[in-house]
Amino acid sequence: MIRGDGESADTLNLFANETILQEYHQMGRPAKPSPRRWPLPSPKSSIILGGLFVRADGPGERSFLAQISLACFVSAMSDPYFQQLFAQRIGGANYGKGTEIYKFEKIKRAKRKALAEHPERKLVDFGIGENDAMADESVRRVMAEEINKPDNRGYADNGILAFKEAVAKFMMREFHVELDPVTEINHCIGSKPMLAMLPAALIDPGDVTLMTVPGYPVAGTHTKYYGGEVYRLPLLAENDFFPDLDAIPEDIRRRAKLLVINYPNSPTGKVATRAFYEKVIDFAMTNQIVVAQDAAHIMLTYETKPFSFLEVPGARDVGVEIHSLSKGWNMIGWRMGWVCGHERLVRALADVKDNCDSGQFIATQKAAAAALNDAEIPRQTRAKYRRRLEKLVATLRRCGFDCRMPGGSYFLYTPTPKAIADGTQFPTAEAFSQYLICEHSICTVPWDDAGSYLRFSATYEAADEAAEDALMDETERRMKQIGPVFS
Ligand SMILES: Cc1ncc(COP(=O)(O)O)c(C=O)c1O
Repeated sequence: MIRGDGESADTLNLFANETILQEYHQMGRPAKPSPRRWPLPSPKSSIILGGLFVRADGPGERSFLAQISLACFVSAMSDPYFQQLFAQRIGGANYGKGTEIYKFEKIKRAKRKALAEHPERKLVDFGIGENDAMADESVRRVMAEEINKPDNRGYADNGILAFKEAVAKFMMREFHVELDPVTEINHCIGSKPMLAMLPAALIDPGDVTLMTVPGYPVAGTHTKYYGGEVYRLPLLAENDFFPDLDAIPEDIRRRAKLLVINYPNSPTGKVATRAFYEKVIDFAMTNQIVVAQDAAHIMLTYETKPFSFLEVPGARDVGVEIHSLSKGWNMIGWRMGWVCGHERLVRALADVKDNCDSGQFIATQKAAAAALNDAEIPRQTRAKYRRRLEKLVATLRRCGFDCRMPGGSYFLYTPTPKAIADGTQFPTAEAFSQYLICEHSICTVPWDDAGSYLRFSATYEAADEAAEDALMDETERRMKQIGPVFS
């Protein structure tokens, strides 16, 4: 009998699967190995297969294991010599060999399958998390002019003053927040790299970053790269989708250096209240933690007027806010954002950044400055996504979903059905989302991190309002046919 019983053994610790076995049978004799890195497999009585300890009890089974071992060996031989050199943080020698399929890849595959199997059925795509429109014509015109100016050709380092001054004016106009453009603002090549740089400035091995879940994971990934730990703060309906800061254990508070929050929140759509920000500031002061507020969706705020963390007294003493032109200005691909707040933190992040990149193209920075100077652009973006989200909420409510207008972002985050009219049960949002796309060509993004929810994005492609309405009608028709059941 061949068993997998979870023990460890000093045998081959290589990854094998059926494909490898087939490859081995097709390949014939492998080339002579280097004895230093690749010891030849011998007929073992046990191996570790994909991390599972497997033991053979009889001679036939030993021979079978020997074949698997050889197959593993052949697979290892087809690796580049540097397979052994990959850092542990990205998987070490097993890098690129995992079989786990990540959520977004599963969605992509299901989309391809739905399109291939049902070419007659239009894909209703609520999965995309990117603006569907181009940057405003006026911004593109500035870019077209600036791109031809020789003065714009060089390294931009930590950013040009004209952009920082435009940010300072914008922060004053929209939030009544006064910032020194030289010391309290720095540009970044989109907010994602700035979130990735935060841990470089703050996290040493053993330090903790507090991160809300579900959420944008970049700062957490880099925290782990630096040997730090991530403590997850679930965003639950019973806490009104705010993190429960009081529930963080004492040991974690002591080791925590960074709290990353994101409002308007993606994907929950929750907007921060003044009281919540006051609580965050108090928590940060008491526990001596730096706050990074990710404001990527800030201009897509519907419930209130857009509200900056830095408007709240004390915020600048505990942290920074990271902004982006991606969402509110339809400039996702342009890669422009900024960090602003406490001078010493901005300086630390600018120092890290200076060692990572040489700044965004100056022409892009000038076009972004023009975008910031035009108050109308984010207002129009907001009006469009508000309209689309209102239609979506009304449509899904008619189909039985318990959803309401999000406070902000271009996402609608709503509890997933437990079953459908024909009795089929769905234990997770992921299972329902896969069913929706495979059987009905409706694409959504599932979240099972803190309850089971579906995320519908209002960034679907529709040329005009009539096309939006037609898409809503089609969504309603298909959803009613499915008959979602929620209790
Ligand atoms: C919550 C959140 N923060 C930050 C980003 C990064 O945006 P960008 O790098 O385009 O500024 C995204 C992008 O999807 C996001 O959803």
